[in-house]
Amino acid sequence: IEKALTEQDLAGRHVLVTAGPTQEAMDPVRFLSNHSTGKMGYAIAARAAMRGADATLVSGPTALDTPHGVTRVDIVSARDMYDAVTSRAPEQDFIIKAAAVGDYRPAQTADEKLKKGDGEMNIELTRNPDILAALGKDKKPGQLLCGFAMETQNLLDNAESKLRRKNCDMLVANSLRDKGAGFGTDTNVATLLFKDGHRETPPMMSKEDLADVILDRLLAMNN
Ligand code: CTP
Ligand code: CA
Repeated sequence: IEKALTEQDLAGRHVLVTAGPTQEAMDPVRFLSNHSTGKMGYAIAARAAMRGADATLVSGPTALDTPHGVTRVDIVSARDMYDAVTSRAPEQDFIIKAAAVGDYRPAQTADEKLKKGDGEMNIELTRNPDILAALGKDKKPGQLLCGFAMETQNLLDNAESKLRRKNCDMLVANSLRDKGAGFGTDTNVATLLFKDGHRETPPMMSKEDLADVILDRLLAMNN
């Protein structure tokens, strides 16, 4: 019923959203990860489907239910996410990278549980591929890329350089320091940065409402 009452302004559009954390295994019982809960990305996928898009959600491990009408692809590591996203990228109109992708993974994943010794433990880390940067290098004509940036300092400068470096059309910048923003909250405070240089800071709102604003702006650039 809700969908019947919602304008189907994304009908015919293919939207791929990434959400949640990645997990990088150290051994069969331990991993490196982050505090992402996936709420923002799930809200975007849910609203895209509600508005008629063909919505795909590539998700790291979360506790959230698959939104109605969304095709969900579960992944664990950043490399899994890279494969899942790049293989589906060519047919997408919008790609929205809300996931908190691990920048590093343990250089080796032990086959057996690591046992503690008497001294220190050092884990060597190796860089993961940057999925958004790869998408930006290989953008199909007319495709729009939206990145996210979560920062604790120099929010707008860091966000602007990510927008440029990764060839995004739009970037959603969040400060972990803002009240009502950050991990696990139901609201978000964000500044939207656009490729043409303009910026917009909507008031604090629910992640669903911010999802609609993000989709509205992409649609406006795409029309
Ligand atoms: N991202 C990605 N692949 C990675 C790392 C990040 O696709 N390996 C994407 C994120 O999904 C997000 C954007 O890039 O949309 C920015 O992520 P962020 O972690 O803020 O930026 P980084 O470039 O990784 O820089 P840093 O963590 O050093 O601030
Ligand atoms: Ca990062």
